Amino acid sequence: MPGLDRQGWHLAPWRREYCIVTTTPSPDRPAGPVIVTVCTSCRAPGTELAEAPGRKLFEAVASAAEGTDCRVRPTQCLSVCKRICSISLSAAGGYTFVFGDLDPDRDAGDVVAMARACAEAPHGFVPWRDRPEAMRRGIIARVPPPDWSPEDGSAPA
Ligand code: FES
Repeated sequence: MPGLDRQGWHLAPWRREYCIVTTTPSPDRPAGPVIVTVCTSCRAPGTELAEAPGRKLFEAVASAAEGTDCRVRPTQCLSVCKRICSISLSAAGGYTFVFGDLDPDRDAGDVVAMARACAEAPHGFVPWRDRPEAMRRGIIARVPPPDWSPEDGSAPA
């Protein structure tokens, strides 16, 4: 399209800078915000609940998500206790993901980046190659949204 580069950005020559082109939201995107559910009880045996690294991860993710559309909530146990620390990402009309092996001191930014990518992706599906490093390493499950699935069960292209 004239005036746009390959990423859909429009050059405003009088200001010598790029500005984003407003587009109509895709009907394939998740209908609601991406919910980041953080297990606050993930901890090594013998560790007190109040000192659980899962609690620390929750606080780090909540802080990293400030000012974004992501919602962060705590839960006690996602039943993947061998992969501490763990989270899930879910949204109406979007894939649900479960991740583990997260580091509260390192991975909160990757969690929020993944949540934001899910919000923009068709059916909330972010391909493995496009995920932040911690989300590639820690993937446990991906589940299609209840209201969408192709005949052959393939993921969105
Ligand atoms: S205690 Fe965190 S998944 Fe079970």
